[in-house]
Amino acid sequence: MNIKGKVSYSSPSNIAIVKYWGKEPGDQIPMNSSLSMTLNQCRSFTTIAWTIVENLVPSLEVWFEGVRNPEIETKTKKWLEKITDFYPWLANTALRVETRNNFPHSAGIASSASGMSALALCLSAIDNHVRQKESGDVFLQSNTARLGSGSASRSVTGPWVLWGETPLFRGSSHEYAVKVTDVHPRFAQLHDTIIIVDKEPKSISSRAGHDLMDGHPWREGRIKQVDKNMTLLLQALKEGDWKAFAEVTENEALSLHALMFASQGGMMLWKGNTVEWIHYLRQQREQTGVPMAFTLDAGANIHLLYPMQAREQVENILQQSPVSHHGFIYDGTGTGPEKISDVYEEY
Ligand code: PMV
Repeated sequence: MNIKGKVSYSSPSNIAIVKYWGKEPGDQIPMNSSLSMTLNQCRSFTTIAWTIVENLVPSLEVWFEGVRNPEIETKTKKWLEKITDFYPWLANTALRVETRNNFPHSAGIASSASGMSALALCLSAIDNHVRQKESGDVFLQSNTARLGSGSASRSVTGPWVLWGETPLFRGSSHEYAVKVTDVHPRFAQLHDTIIIVDKEPKSISSRAGHDLMDGHPWREGRIKQVDKNMTLLLQALKEGDWKAFAEVTENEALSLHALMFASQGGMMLWKGNTVEWIHYLRQQREQTGVPMAFTLDAGANIHLLYPMQAREQVENILQQSPVSHHGFIYDGTGTGPEKISDVYEEY
């Protein structure tokens, strides 16, 4: 019997509070555990048209924002090879992937997290048809997403998600991410305004960045620091302690980039305006007492996190800033991917 279908998902990006930076030997095994907030607005929209025919030679086409993209196609092929053990039917499947993001490329928003998680969700939906299952396994979805991009493992669910084995969290694993549920209502809904400091694609990939942690002189110290920050963050989330949350958030962002500065070759993703913005935001916080905390991913752009009630004040602070930028993206806490459509037929 041959089957074919078409499935579409939208999946969000996420912003790590405790950062994943560096790997252990193996396939996408993180050096340390990480914890992120799933975003709501910044998403990838992915459709897979699929055909499974016995003895079919597998094939793949990837279209990104309306144009066939050989670079993403090559990466996706490698990823599919890795996950064929989980989905053996991939060996006889023709896939045509169409994907787009609703946020600018290289905006300091992890497009690999939203893109790979959307793909993983689509494949899980196909697997449900093939094996006639009611629903997909969220751990398998996370695990397959992880094999494409580490941070993608955390985008399959929300709002607060932990990836990487740590004695601090029961049930945590290197292979998949788990939801953190012991969260105070104060952290149920935060705003995240992304300040676009730089529009250019970043100079070094995060893959190359992770590799710089191999033999990094601060590696052991970093692992200890994560234990401390993860302890503080889990406690802050549980107790609704904004001050402790803000301290960990900024310490992690600055430490991530300090690790880059101190690595072989001196990786530097900040632009001058990144520094100007950080000074401005801290000075405004000092003067006004408005609760807000900045963080950065592997890029120059700034994510500014703040509670709902601070929205008007933060907007004023942002609008009045003398520091230049290329716009703001307004996002906030999200709950995870959404299925858009899923049809199939036997023939
Ligand atoms: O998932 P990757 O390989 O793109 O790495 C993500 C690394 C950071 O965004 C800097 C941190 C994180 O935990 O998301």
